[in-house]
Amino acid sequence: MDVLVIEGGRRLEGAVAIAGAKNAALPQIAAALLSDAPVRLAGLPRVADVETMLRLVESYGLVVEHAGPHEAVLDPAAARNGEAPYDSVRRMRASVLVLGPLLARFGEARVSLPGGCAIGARPVDLHLKALAALGAEVGIEAGVIVAEAPAGGLVGGRIVLASPSVGATETAMMAATRARGETEILNAARDPEVQDLAACLVAMGATIEGAGTHRIRIAGPTTWRAARHEIVPDRIEAGTYAIAAAITGGRLELSGAHLEHLAVVGEVLESAGVRLFPTDRGLMVDGTGPLRGVDVTTEPYPGFPTDLQAQYMALASVAEGAALVRETVFENRFMHVPELSRLGADIRLEGTSALVRGGRKLKGAPVMATDLRASVCLVIAGLAAQGETVVSRVYHLDRGYEELDRKLVRCGAAIRRETRA
Ligand code: EPZ
Repeated sequence: MDVLVIEGGRRLEGAVAIAGAKNAALPQIAAALLSDAPVRLAGLPRVADVETMLRLVESYGLVVEHAGPHEAVLDPAAARNGEAPYDSVRRMRASVLVLGPLLARFGEARVSLPGGCAIGARPVDLHLKALAALGAEVGIEAGVIVAEAPAGGLVGGRIVLASPSVGATETAMMAATRARGETEILNAARDPEVQDLAACLVAMGATIEGAGTHRIRIAGPTTWRAARHEIVPDRIEAGTYAIAAAITGGRLELSGAHLEHLAVVGEVLESAGVRLFPTDRGLMVDGTGPLRGVDVTTEPYPGFPTDLQAQYMALASVAEGAALVRETVFENRFMHVPELSRLGADIRLEGTSALVRGGRKLKGAPVMATDLRASVCLVIAGLAAQGETVVSRVYHLDRGYEELDRKLVRCGAAIRRETRA
C-alpha cells in the first residue's frame, strides 16, 4: 500500500496546472454511449475514477482511443447493451451514470444499485424518478436497477427533482436527449460540471437550454454528430490547492482555474484573509497574511461545496479564532475529524456541525485516509504540521487528484510517496 510522507512547515510558492474536472469527465464518458458518432474529450484528468469509467463503457463495446495523456476519442458506433456489475458500481458510485444513456439508447438497462460509501447512503431514487417521468418502467430486482423504455422509446416530459441532485440532473439530461419531444427539468443542479455536460451534449448535436439554472429544457430526439469537447477545469482541485497555499502561508498561481467557479469559496477564503485575484493564466492565491476562522455551511452550487469541506476544516484548525462548519449535503462527511485531531486540531462535533477552535500548531503524526476528500485534507494538514506526517491508504487520493505529490513538490513541499507493507 502506498503512503505519503510529508515534512511540514514549508511554504508553497509557484504555479500549479489545474486538470480537467473529474466530476465533469465521468458523466461525459457515459454520455458518449448516447451517440452513434465519435466524441473526442480533451482535458481528461489522469485519475483512477476516469480510468474506471473508461473501462466500464468499453465493456459495452465503446472503443476508446487515447490521443495523448489527457485526450481520448470515444467511438460508440459498435456499442451494445450490458449490465453494470455490482463490483464496478460499488467501487465507483458514478458508474450509475451509465443507466440513463443505456436506457435511452437501447430501450432497457440493468445497473446494479451502487449501495452506500464512506460519506453516506447515496440513494439513487431521484435518478429513477426522473427516468420514470420520461415513460420508463423502473424497478429493483435483487439489488439491480431494471429500467425499460416504452416500445416507441422514451417520451419527453416534466421532471421535478425533489432536491438539486447533481447526478440525477445529469441522468435526466442525458436520457432526455433521446426522448421524443421536449423535456423540462425543474430544480436542476446548477454546478459547472452540469453546465459542462450540457455543453458537451450540445457539441454532440443535442438541443439544451438553461444549463446552470434551476430549469433546463431539452428538445429530443437528437441528431448525433462527431464532436470534440474540452473538459472544464476542476474547481474542487483548484479550491484544494488554494487552501494548501493558504495553510502554508504561501502564494500559488493556479493556471486554468476560474474564480467564478469557486463562487462562495472565494468569498469565504477572502473573509478568512486569503487574497485571490485573476491572472492571464488563471488565479493567484496569496495566503501570506494572517488568517482567521470563518463559519461555513455546505450547500448545492453556488454554495460552499461539500467536496471542499474537509480541506477547509484543516485551514480553520490553524486560522485564528473559531469556525462553525455545517455539512448539509451528505450525512456522514466528518470522518476526517478524528484524523485531524491526531494532528492536534481542536474540533467538537455536534450532529451535522463541527466547531473548529483555531490557532492550533499542528504536529505531524501517522493518519489514515477514509475517502477522496478526507485524504487530501490530511495531506493539507500535514503540509502545515510541524514534523513528519504519514498519510496511509492514499489510493483514495489517486481516485480524484492527478499527480498530487508531484505537483506539491514542484511548489516546494517536502512530500514523497513510499510503498509500505
Ligand atoms: C456528485 O455526487 C459528485 N460526484 C460528488 O463528488 C459531490 O459531492 C456531489 O455531487 C455533491 O456536489 C460526481 O459528480 C461523480 P448528489 P452525486 O446527487 O451526484 C442525495 C467527490 O468527492 N440524493 O448531488 O452523487 C444524496 O444522498 C464526490 O468528487 C438522493 O437523496 O451527489 C446527497 O445527500 C463525492 N437521491 C445529496 O442528494 C438521489 O437520487 C446530494 O447528492 C441522489 C442524491
